[in-house]
Amino acid sequence: MKKILSILFIIATMPCFSQSALNIIPQPVKVEAKAGTFTITGNTTVFFTQKELSKSAVFLNTYFKKYYGFALLVQNKQLYPEGKIALEIKPKVATIPGGYAMQVNGNNITITGNDAQGVFYGIQTLIQLLPPQKSNSLAVQQCSIVDSPRFAYRGLHLDCGRHFFSVDFIKQYIDFIAMHKMNTFHWHLTEDQGWRIEIKKYPKLTEIGSCRKGTITGHHPGTGNDCKKDCGYYTQAQIKDVVKYAADRYITIIPEIELPGHSSAAIAAYPQLSCFPNENTPIAKGVTWCGDSTGKQVQQSWGVYPDVFAPTDYTFKFLENVLDEVMQLFPSKYIHIGGDECPKEYWERSAYCQQLIKDSGLKNEEGLQSYFIHKIERYLNSKGHSIIGWDEILEGGLAPNATVMSWRGEAGGIAAAQQHHKVIMTPTTYVYFDYSQTKHEDSLTIGGYLPVETVYNYEPLTPNLTPEEQKYIIGAQANLWTEYVSNPAKVEYMLFPRLDALSEVLWTPANEKDWNGFKDRLQQQYKRYDFLHIQYNPKGIDKGE
Ligand code: ACM
Repeated sequence: MKKILSILFIIATMPCFSQSALNIIPQPVKVEAKAGTFTITGNTTVFFTQKELSKSAVFLNTYFKKYYGFALLVQNKQLYPEGKIALEIKPKVATIPGGYAMQVNGNNITITGNDAQGVFYGIQTLIQLLPPQKSNSLAVQQCSIVDSPRFAYRGLHLDCGRHFFSVDFIKQYIDFIAMHKMNTFHWHLTEDQGWRIEIKKYPKLTEIGSCRKGTITGHHPGTGNDCKKDCGYYTQAQIKDVVKYAADRYITIIPEIELPGHSSAAIAAYPQLSCFPNENTPIAKGVTWCGDSTGKQVQQSWGVYPDVFAPTDYTFKFLENVLDEVMQLFPSKYIHIGGDECPKEYWERSAYCQQLIKDSGLKNEEGLQSYFIHKIERYLNSKGHSIIGWDEILEGGLAPNATVMSWRGEAGGIAAAQQHHKVIMTPTTYVYFDYSQTKHEDSLTIGGYLPVETVYNYEPLTPNLTPEEQKYIIGAQANLWTEYVSNPAKVEYMLFPRLDALSEVLWTPANEKDWNGFKDRLQQQYKRYDFLHIQYNPKGIDKGE
């Protein structure tokens, strides 16, 4: 009996439950679960001590109203009673912003950020500790957490060129990013199949470039064409609203304006941007076309097309004018200028391009691509912005201040880091979320096979670089291309749970990562996704499916 009592005593006084009892994704740096709970009700007050925290307090309260049906009281005050949620900043210098500590005891919940961003991440953690079902009395496990991000750049991309997504859904997408303590939304806005951003100086970009007259069915080149007009673009007012929505969640939006390739939609609007303005748009072999196929057209199938921007004064002036409006809309230091998949056939057969290669002392068409990117970089640098480009921008020599997004594996990222350029890793093999999550998907995908475990095991700091060179890898990003993703439910299905895995790659210290622990924590995350009506693919967890 004495022995049983002493075992009971030990259990009752144990300071710590298992880490996974808290089910937080991404796994925090240090987390200790304690016995007991703190209960949140409609009488609980959120106090915040610095004015800049009001938007985080509002964020939390909006969440309560939307999902639990009651609001908290919110006050900006220094002194406060027991029984509350307190948000505060105790400034602490760290190389990467966003660190925070969180204490939950029987009387209070306290979130202390190194900065305002850290408080916001603490709120994301608190949200994950709430029960995933509606109730007016919410028990939060007592605990002590100290947490901070591993990588400075934690990104997610969405291709709105192949398929257009509404502003409401873009905001939801931004919430998914915030929920995973990530900080960058790479918004892919221009493509062969649609130009999606209003540019006041060039109205035809959206009048003509944002519409295609049909879309292939099945895999490229397709089994037919739906012949449905497909249009959509974001007005500048909508973009400003989205940029603010993201900033309130500590998310930077990096817009991508593709050049010199993937430019069919822009060329359809302004044919003079092509080396051959009078030639018809090339249509891929086997594609069933809808409507007029003469002149310049917005593409109706996927793939890569040779009719790219001509490196003329007209094109550069056009791009500078477009980028001027883009810079007005997006405060991001970085502007993504694409640079990938630019076939050189048109430049090869253009007398103008060949003369330019000669006159500028360039070696070949790769040199011309580099000339193109350098020129755009100089312009953006002169306006205080920096460029990001896909790893093809290494061809013919990197522009001096460019950041490289390494997508064709890690080789481009390795080469760029060795040249002391910043790198964001986005290799297809680990973070292309358009690839299938299981071996037997029940809807069409682009192909490939990228189960969640492979994402989870990704390590952006490749051992092929020295520790000094690894410092140039600022983080990683998943890309979601949407050739075969045409609606929000499918976007969510492709994202989850792989985004959970990526968040842990980017946030959690490498030595705290644990696949089995992650799988356990994911069960609670699935309950939360059900509660929030978010789609996910629960099958992808077991390889071999
Ligand atoms: C890419 O996937 N073409 C960057």
